[in-house]
Amino acid sequence: MGESTREFKRTDYCGKLSSAQINHDVVVSGWVQKRRDHGGLIFIDLRDRSGLVQVVFNPDLNQEAFDRANKLRAEFVIAVSGKVGPRPAGNINAELPTGEIEIRGQDLKILDSAKTPPFHILDQLDVSEDLRLKYRYLDLRRPKMKDIISLRHQALKATRDYLDEMGFWEVETPLLTRSTPEGARDYLVPSRINPGNFYALPQSPQIFKQLLMVAGVEKYFQIARCFRDEDLRANRQPEFTQIDLEMSFITEEDIFSIGEGLMRRLFSLKGIELPEKIPLMTYQEALDRYGSDKPDTRFGMELIDLSTVVQNSSFQVFSSTIAAGGQVKGINVKGGANCPRRKLDAYTDYVKIYQARGLAWIAWQEEQLKSPITKFLSTEEIEAIKGLMGAEKGDLLLLVADQPAIVADALGNLRLKIAGDEKLIPEGRYEILWVVDFPLLEYDQEEDRFAAKHHPFTAPLSGDLPLLETAPDQVRSRAYDLVLNGEELGGGSIRINNRELQERVFRALNIADEEAEEKFGFLLEAFEYGTPPHGGIAFGFDRLIMILSGADSIRDVIAFPKTQRATSPMTNAPSPVSEKQLNELKILTDD
Ligand code: AMO
Ligand code: AMP
Repeated sequence: MGESTREFKRTDYCGKLSSAQINHDVVVSGWVQKRRDHGGLIFIDLRDRSGLVQVVFNPDLNQEAFDRANKLRAEFVIAVSGKVGPRPAGNINAELPTGEIEIRGQDLKILDSAKTPPFHILDQLDVSEDLRLKYRYLDLRRPKMKDIISLRHQALKATRDYLDEMGFWEVETPLLTRSTPEGARDYLVPSRINPGNFYALPQSPQIFKQLLMVAGVEKYFQIARCFRDEDLRANRQPEFTQIDLEMSFITEEDIFSIGEGLMRRLFSLKGIELPEKIPLMTYQEALDRYGSDKPDTRFGMELIDLSTVVQNSSFQVFSSTIAAGGQVKGINVKGGANCPRRKLDAYTDYVKIYQARGLAWIAWQEEQLKSPITKFLSTEEIEAIKGLMGAEKGDLLLLVADQPAIVADALGNLRLKIAGDEKLIPEGRYEILWVVDFPLLEYDQEEDRFAAKHHPFTAPLSGDLPLLETAPDQVRSRAYDLVLNGEELGGGSIRINNRELQERVFRALNIADEEAEEKFGFLLEAFEYGTPPHGGIAFGFDRLIMILSGADSIRDVIAFPKTQRATSPMTNAPSPVSEKQLNELKILTDD
């Protein structure tokens, strides 16, 4: 390291300087945000990861430094020595944390020049996300992104601290492993040494953490990277991070208490206070009232069951649906009676996405009801609907008649859409709850068979065990989800801890004994060597950071994320590989 670099050894971070340092000699370094020439002086806004500070170069103080400052352009990397001084009264910038002071530049070293960046490094950006991702290292220079990276670090540290205090051990589990059944497609890695064989990247550390319980670790956690090849959305990435944990000799309450403590610790990083005890809601209640197993309880507009009052209606759409085992339910959009026709048509199209056959509406305008269906209903039926839905003058009632799953899906999603469109969700509110008593199994239409609702290692509720062979769809499980503001933040369960019950559940899932043996034989065998009762949970760390930082997209909280098409515009992954590599792996391709 040269002499001059040592002279320019940083003493302070730009964004941390204040009036307290007035008359201090300081050295700062960073990137040029902006250069302005004004009245024979050069002003530089200098940025490092802590923020901005203004530096002034005056030719009377050091002509050479002034000349070098003249050459500076955006994103040049420099080091500056100088004295901190107060800004002249008229030049104080109340918007900037360092706005009361400036550095009077004594000397300047240009550490690196920079090409003109493809976009300005500003929080308010108007460029495509692809461009941001291609130049992610520039995108991450923006203060907003830096704050998220810093928050992510603080949250990881707080997680490790909290779980360590609670007696958990951090254990790493393999990335090159076998398929784990979390319900998505696997990312596969070919084995050169064992041609024709593949590792799977873990969808979660599920099996390993259970084996660690058999191994007597008792309290495990890991900041675990998980890989799932599934359709990507605003809250899903092909590779994402979980706070994964597992405990022995516990019940649901122990997991809830650890989860609550961890969430309270993490939310306190942003000054958000969560309740000591997070309320529980059953899966059935969540579906009945909100049409969703991850209900957003920050606002009302709950689903109201009208089936009893319209089951004998002469309006066939309603009565025949109920006769066929369906339901009629509705939501009350308070004050929505003057909703224009095209919006009602848009709502109707919207519920059709969820397979609903139609949407009926009743608008209570001034003295009269406007509706295409009231002419089919009796006065008593209309009054009963109004009564059940708590309708008042000015309200809009939206009704769907269909099979229960479709009604829940259609109205549950419509409720969210209207709340979003009409800005009914209060800002700065955090509503958190545990959803419990999930069904053990879920019917998979595509595959025409039952699949595990959580995963196949989840214990059934002991009271429902006799139904496992007779009415498997009615068996509830010991699974739980943590839901915050309508987002699934975490999920877990108490596990099966003996071979016999595990085999019964595999059978209910139509997993043949040979297949179970082939895929999970090592776990079943482990269960025979003394397995403690155990259970655990995994929290979606990226989703948590999304909520804590207020980001709209999961891609904004991951340093180097993938696009919706699972690609990286920066590295161009995934990419073709050489013929030689393919040959070594004994992989043939089409072309
Ligand atoms: P689960 O599959 O419910 O449970 O995942 C736990 C949490 O991980 C988050 N998550 C995701 N986040 C971003 N992108 C994705 N593609 C993605 N998929 C899931 C969600 C979810 O709640 N092994 C079990 C846990 C257990 O039983 O202990 C598991 O992985 O926030
Ligand atoms: P129709 O008799 O088909 O003209 O329907 C009369 C009204 O009932 C229209 O406003 C439809 O949108 C509505 N409707 C039709 N099917 C359903 C349904 N399954 N649920 C709720 N409303 C429906």
